[in-house]
Amino acid sequence: MIKSITVTALCLGLATILITGTMAQAADLQTIKLPKPAITHGKPLMQTLSERKTSREFAAKDLDPQTLSNLLWAAFGINRPDSGRRTAPSALNHQEIDVFVALKSGIYRYDPKANSLIPDVAGDMRAMTGLQGYVKDAPLDLIYVADFAKMGNSQEAEKVFLSAADTGFIAENVYLYSASEGLATVVRANIDKKKLGEAMKLLPDQKITLAQCVGYPKAKESKDDSQKK
Ligand SMILES: Cc1cc2nc3c(=O)[nH]c(=O)nc-3n(C[C@H](O)[C@H](O)[C@H](O)COP(=O)(O)O)c2cc1C
Repeated sequence: MIKSITVTALCLGLATILITGTMAQAADLQTIKLPKPAITHGKPLMQTLSERKTSREFAAKDLDPQTLSNLLWAAFGINRPDSGRRTAPSALNHQEIDVFVALKSGIYRYDPKANSLIPDVAGDMRAMTGLQGYVKDAPLDLIYVADFAKMGNSQEAEKVFLSAADTGFIAENVYLYSASEGLATVVRANIDKKKLGEAMKLLPDQKITLAQCVGYPKAKESKDDSQKK
């Protein structure tokens, strides 16, 4: 009798834990497992370079998961799994830049090893990733964050310089992938870094360097899209 009461209590307890866990998960953002990046197609390099450009007009349509996976791999994915080295170089191979992705559902951190998006904060914060009107129109914004804690004992100014350079390579990879795929993109320094950093709950060593909108181009781009600020 005692045994059966104990078993019943245990089962009830387990059920409660399971239900509570499920409810908590439903309220939170989930990790997004990305499809394997498709790395065997794309325009030839010289054609891609001739088509690289900044665009500030975006269609509302979301990027499909395969395109998002390819984009992030091109940005700063692992291209040599044996050593864990990446598609963009980094000073002293510190790999200090994290690529965050602001989607309608929230902000996620790209984990290149797991090929997944790890939840950071819930809610649509795309508009907060920049100070210009068009930023809210892009279906996604990349936020580049340097983790100074990964950069050894260099002086702060050296970390600022090197992480800015390292971000530039990643941003250019995104420009090239976008040119190859016919996507619209603009890299941006015009950010309220303090406000965005607080919203992202960044640690003191995590510094926002740049952000970058990516999306499908608006059907008809204006003739002069050079500096709409
Ligand atoms: C480091 C950097 C920061 C930039 N910041 C902004 C920005 O805050 N807002 C913006 O609209 N464009 C920004 N741009 C995009 C430039 O305005 C654009 O690259 C330039 O006009 C040249 O155009 P192109 O990329 O089509 O050659 C930035 C570019 C770089 C490289």
